[in-house]
Amino acid sequence: MKKQVMQALVVSAAMLTLAFFCQSCGGPDSTSTNNTGEEAATGHTAVWAAPDTNTWAQTEQAVQLRYGRDLVANTAAYLGPEGSIARTTNGLNCQNCHLDAGTRPFTNNYALVASTYPRFRARSGTEETVHKRIADCFQRSLNGQAPDSLSVEGKAIAAYVLWVGSGIQKGETPAGAGLEVIDFLDRAADPQAGAKVYVEKCQSCHQPNGQGLTNGKGGYAFPPLWGPNSYNHAAGLYRLSRFASYVKQGMPLGATHEKPLLTDEEAWDVAAYVNSQERPKYDLRADWPDISGKPVDHPFGPYSDSFPELQHKYGPFKPIKAARDQQKQPS
Ligand code: HEC
Ligand code: HEC
Repeated sequence: MKKQVMQALVVSAAMLTLAFFCQSCGGPDSTSTNNTGEEAATGHTAVWAAPDTNTWAQTEQAVQLRYGRDLVANTAAYLGPEGSIARTTNGLNCQNCHLDAGTRPFTNNYALVASTYPRFRARSGTEETVHKRIADCFQRSLNGQAPDSLSVEGKAIAAYVLWVGSGIQKGETPAGAGLEVIDFLDRAADPQAGAKVYVEKCQSCHQPNGQGLTNGKGGYAFPPLWGPNSYNHAAGLYRLSRFASYVKQGMPLGATHEKPLLTDEEAWDVAAYVNSQERPKYDLRADWPDISGKPVDHPFGPYSDSFPELQHKYGPFKPIKAARDQQKQPS
């Protein structure tokens, strides 16, 4: 066990070094379409970069932004099972999924939040504030509760998230903003093929039982991918397209958009394997009051189309998308 951890750490150190040198090698071919699943891309070619933290002046806002970033990067230390401020979350950090505190291009960064919120979201069927969107990730991805939006912590997280996207004008979608969604496969994703990918490329860190490795302080050195302390089944990553897109560009640790370490097929299959395991449940009854707004890969019916739940979970998604396009429904 100890040896495995050491190996994993050596590997991750090497990969982080690699990742560091590749951060700016976006290159001329990084013009591919990217969106957050709901927004279409415009024709920009320059890859988005987060604003520079050196511009934070020594003002009260700097203190707040620094605290906000720290809450995103080290959420468990403050709000996890042994948190110093409150104990309301499962031990994950926001940064586990929003890499580099939500600043890494293509990989689920916060670039588009400032310019798009408040906005209508089909999942709740309401106009959502940034606080509501942040609370969603607390309730689903961290399977817990968000700090009050008026608390020091609630304000700091929102201020930081909004700062990340402060350089983007309304209506702009630069390349690399948000999460770049990878193409659908022609077939259904295959959990059995994904189990092999998991053993070969994931379990050295996330462990054979998927429960990750704790840091001994209520948080994780390697976060869990399933089980009681993982994201619940209403979280974004439980949608196969979000999981596959995230891991294609961010996992195994060290992978980037420019230098992925998985093929698309491996990403989709390992997504199917991980999302076939047990995880906490969540009351979904208030989600998508208009069922025609459900994403093609939302794995819980009822649907406005005639495809079965299983196909909405694992695919193939192209036929569902084609049928929706015919009816002009969102995919
Ligand atoms: C287990 C993974 C995971 C964790 C942990 C997580 N999130 Fe998220 N978050 C996601 C996914 C997936 C999305 C949706 C991305 C998409 O659909 O394009 C998302 C979306 C968001 C958005 C909206 C982004 C946009 O462009 O509209 C915000 C804001 C956000 N998360 C904040 C947070 C905060 C703050 C935390 C920590 C309290 C957190 N998230 C923790 C996975 C996670
Ligand atoms: C070298 C160690 C390592 C390997 C190998 C690795 N991961 Fe990770 N993974 C991490 C770390 C560390 C994080 C948290 C990243 C951060 O906070 O910056 C993470 C985060 C994640 C997350 C989001 C957080 C969560 O717990 O849900 C997912 C999903 C994930 N990894 C999936 C995978 C998959 C799938 C593979 C195999 C294809 C894989 N990882 C391989 C170390 C690893």
